[in-house]
Amino acid sequence: MMSDTHVLERPPEGAGTDWTVPQNWDAFTREEHAVWDTLYERQIRLLPGRASKAYLRGLDLLKLSESGIPNFEELSERLMKLTGWQVVAVPGLVPDDVFFDHMANRRFVAGNFIRRADQLDYLQEPDVFHDVFGHVPLLADPVFADYMEAYGRGGLRALEHGALKQLSRLYWYTVEFGLIEEDDGLRIYGAGIVSSFGESRFALDSDSPNRIGFDLKRVMRTNYRIDDFQQNYFVIPSFDELLRVTIETDFAPLYDEILAQPDIAIAAIEPGDRVITLGTQDYARGRDAA
Ligand code: PHE
Ligand code: FE
Repeated sequence: MMSDTHVLERPPEGAGTDWTVPQNWDAFTREEHAVWDTLYERQIRLLPGRASKAYLRGLDLLKLSESGIPNFEELSERLMKLTGWQVVAVPGLVPDDVFFDHMANRRFVAGNFIRRADQLDYLQEPDVFHDVFGHVPLLADPVFADYMEAYGRGGLRALEHGALKQLSRLYWYTVEFGLIEEDDGLRIYGAGIVSSFGESRFALDSDSPNRIGFDLKRVMRTNYRIDDFQQNYFVIPSFDELLRVTIETDFAPLYDEILAQPDIAIAAIEPGDRVITLGTQDYARGRDAA
């Protein structure tokens, strides 16, 4: 899922109370499988040297190079053996508590539709390419798999504390748009980046965005944009460190603290930031002027 807004209020016709539907893989047309192949081929050329090692390993282990939209049953079987995760189909965005409950039980909910051939770059709702190509490879990594499960439990807890917005920012700046510092340089791992033709280059190559060392409280106070490339990326030192700091920290007192503080503007630099690259913000300025 890319967004925290939801369109439907109850499970649509044919969906279970957990909002899942059969993937109905046989119903995808040749054209739809061809859209997957087109998207796959242009991403896979970009990712070596850009995507994190764990992500590339996951692509390989899960055999995502096979042609066409993956069959969730086969994919889940492979994933289950590696980390105990499954992929289940949903018709679109689901309510937050449903989303978190699936995650807490190691079920990743994936969209059951694919963008049209004339929409390769722009889409409002996460489709099967974003959800599977973007998110699923890292679920094959044991550490990231643990992080995602913990996040699901954390989500249910955040709802009780009225802190959904704060916790969603953590998801946004890690799971969707995170960067990682590896031995040979910065790499992308967020699903919103690795599944995007434009942003998988922009996030690493552009002089425009800020790249700042990850800090839990800082991230949970920072607004984000959902309509264009990020102006701000947060860089983790490793998945081990991300997991360690998020599971060892009790978020309840942290929520109280940050709910009393002002939000941080999207491209602002704060005292205490470890600035890795200070962006020009030229790209954002150019777009706002257009
Ligand atoms: N430790 C967090 C809490 O106390 C839960 C969490 C773990 C949230 C991992 C996000 C990621 O709520
Ligand atoms: Fe997503």
